[in-house]
Amino acid sequence: MDLTGKTALVTGAAGGIGLATTRMLRGAGAAVAVADLDTTGLEADAWLSGNLTDVGYANGLPQRAAEALGGLDILVNNAGIMRRGAVTESTDADFDISVAVNMQAPFRLCRAAVPIMAEAGGGAIVNIASCWGVRPGPDHALYCMTKAAIASLTQCMGRDHAHQGIRVNAVCPNEVDTPMLRTGFERRGFDPDTAIAELGETVPLGRVATPDEIAEVVLFLASDHARYLCGSLVEANGGKPVG
Ligand SMILES: NC(=O)c1ccc[n+]([C@@H]2O[C@H](COP(=O)([O-])OP(=O)(O)OC[C@H]3O[C@@H](n4cnc5c(N)ncnc54)[C@H](O)[C@@H]3O)[C@@H](O)[C@H]2O)c1
Repeated sequence: MDLTGKTALVTGAAGGIGLATTRMLRGAGAAVAVADLDTTGLEADAWLSGNLTDVGYANGLPQRAAEALGGLDILVNNAGIMRRGAVTESTDADFDISVAVNMQAPFRLCRAAVPIMAEAGGGAIVNIASCWGVRPGPDHALYCMTKAAIASLTQCMGRDHAHQGIRVNAVCPNEVDTPMLRTGFERRGFDPDTAIAELGETVPLGRVATPDEIAEVVLFLASDHARYLCGSLVEANGGKPVG
């Protein structure tokens, strides 16, 4: 995968999938601007720390990345949070933060990135949705709802902006061994190593995904190898259906 001369913005770049994606994009030759609550110490070409629930920050991020890198060819909307529980166990605060981070921020970043990419003749947006956004998973109503929204946004934008040379696609992972999964187990009193090993036994391939395995799909969708994919939801699930 050769992305020499390309420029990219990755949100959630300090997390499991974000770190792997940034490393791989840079390894393929792209210059990468990283965005997260704290980007201190991350290996990158530009650092744009901030909170995606801040409307001004989210709206301005693509332009700031383009100014820092000299353009914006690739946007990876990766930041996300997971709130556990059925609707009856979910608070207004759970709803607000899930919508703000998982839906509103990617919407604002996409909206701001499209004109920049269109003016340059095209680009690629890769959203990280989830298998749990394509089919309902148990006890995560807000997470599934917001991931379904970004999956739908991806499909809509894939149609609406193809004529501008902008490809919008999404990766839909099932379980990935990242801080998101590990802290979820810890909060519930489980040892994360044991819980992830046991979870792996429920996957037909025999293990949950590594962040690198998801980052490689991101890289593919961002590259010219995926030049005819617009609005695709690519499931990376090791053969495990949502159940
Ligand atoms: N880990 C999994 O099993 C899994 C499965 C399917 C989809 N995903 C999705 O993959 C993406 C990456 O998840 P991950 O597993 O690497 O999680 P992670 O928790 O390791 O990383 C998420 C990153 O997003 C950042 N972030 C959260 N809220 C933010 C905010 N308000 N402003 C700025 N940054 C913020 C966090 O600081 C963190 O670095 C998420 O969208 C997640 O929903 C993860």
